[in-house]
Amino acid sequence: MALLHSSGSLAKPQISGQIRHYLQFSDFTRDEYTYLFQRSAWLKDRFKRYETWHPLHDRTLAMIFEKHSTRTRLSFEAGIHQLGGHAVYMNTRDTQLGRGEPVEDAAQVISRMTDIIMIRTFEQDTIERFAANSRVPVINGLTNQFHPCQVMADIFTFVEQRGDIQGKVVAWVGDANNMAYTWIQAAECLDFEFRFSAPEGYQLKRDRLTGTSLNHLTVCPDPHDACKDADLVSTDVWTSMGFESENSSRIAAFKNWMVSEELMALAKPEALFMHCLPAHRGEEVAASVIDGPQSVVWEEAENRLHSQKALMEFLLCGRL
Ligand code: CP
Ligand code: NVA
Repeated sequence: MALLHSSGSLAKPQISGQIRHYLQFSDFTRDEYTYLFQRSAWLKDRFKRYETWHPLHDRTLAMIFEKHSTRTRLSFEAGIHQLGGHAVYMNTRDTQLGRGEPVEDAAQVISRMTDIIMIRTFEQDTIERFAANSRVPVINGLTNQFHPCQVMADIFTFVEQRGDIQGKVVAWVGDANNMAYTWIQAAECLDFEFRFSAPEGYQLKRDRLTGTSLNHLTVCPDPHDACKDADLVSTDVWTSMGFESENSSRIAAFKNWMVSEELMALAKPEALFMHCLPAHRGEEVAASVIDGPQSVVWEEAENRLHSQKALMEFLLCGRL
């Protein structure tokens, strides 16, 4: 199927044939990520020099949110604007999506009026059903299962600061959540080691580990082992959106999995600390780490803007 604009014209001549979606990290190849990281740097540099770049002039991004967001909403909205396009924000509170309209019908309608769609929802199945019925590219802005835009920005940040991530060691101290499973896909795609450490009862689900992901994954019962000589230490909230009822039991279970100065000291001296934010100081990370010299959390957040511009440009225009 050709990529049809609502008027029936091709969105961009470079695209012929299949629509590409970005629903999980494994949707792109290593070669495509190499391009996207280079392109993110180019777009960032241009933006910093106040140079206009409008490849998506007249294009509309629909942003559908079923969960809260600060960074994702702002980075996509500012990003499409910086590329010459326009964003429409939708949520389940005041659209028919919240009143039971089938996701397949919503996809048919929304994709006939817009050029690209970003969705933050609960189940991965919802976004896959939406994409299967969409005429335009669909981007995963976070589901319970994956958060690919965040990990793409995180790795772009690592590449910017430290160079290629291939062969490096990424330590994850925290929950087996959407971020952790996305990092596992990234490790397989980009060929680095991902060390995972969480308390008993909060381990990765074996049936979610597919393909050769096990070759790049090391499960460490002790977070000290995960952090030893790591190039990057990362964590996330202990209780993700949608799991709030488990908050008190999670706080008790994860209390020894806070990224502390002691854990960071085990990593390489040049190791970076990342957190997708929002963060809870004194829970998953010590204030002295997130606000300390190895933390790149603000760069990481900023890079959502530029890596997602590269993503939207790529999905609509191909390689430029
Ligand atoms: N990291 C992230 O996705 O932040 P928001 O929930 O604010 O979008
Ligand atoms: N794992 C977190 C990420 C928030 C950006 C959540 O899903 O709530």
